[in-house]
Amino acid sequence: MNLIMKMLAVPATVLALWAASAQAATNDDIAKRLEPVGQVCVQGKECKGMEVASAAGGGGGAKTPDEVIAKHCNACHGTGLLGSPKIGDAAAWGERAKKEGGIDGLLAKAITGLNSMPPKGTCADCADAELKGAIEKMSGLK
Ligand code: HEC
Repeated sequence: MNLIMKMLAVPATVLALWAASAQAATNDDIAKRLEPVGQVCVQGKECKGMEVASAAGGGGGAKTPDEVIAKHCNACHGTGLLGSPKIGDAAAWGERAKKEGGIDGLLAKAITGLNSMPPKGTCADCADAELKGAIEKMSGLK
């Protein structure tokens, strides 16, 4: 082996070792990356741990209408997305209230969902009273 070959052989061995250890680390990394970071909780399914997280986020107490609307309803009702009655559009809400037999009828539909309106308006951990408060606030109805 001439000098040039020796000079090339040493770094090649180091490189091979480094590559092997790098691969091991990478496999661990991949396994870690495959672990779900945030689990998706599908509506209507029991999701262990989710209620704890949301209870902590909600501060423990009842959610105010403003909190519920800002976090859940505004995404659609803020702009009338998907044909939803817009916040503050008393005429649109009034018409629906008449059809459903008042606020409680609207509440019942909000709980079950209606066409593009998701069940509970995506606020799965909202109590009926909290949803009702949000509906009253959005519609201006009492
Ligand atoms: C993904 C969009 C979306 C979100 C989020 C959403 N809504 Fe709706 N909502 C709709 C749509 C669309 C309609 C109209 C459905 C229809 O008439 O076909 C609707 C209709 C309603 C109605 C009227 C039901 C009826 O009987 O006419 C109520 C009440 C209501 N939403 C409450 C809420 C509340 C409360 C929230 C938040 C907790 C919320 N919505 C969040 C899309 C949404």
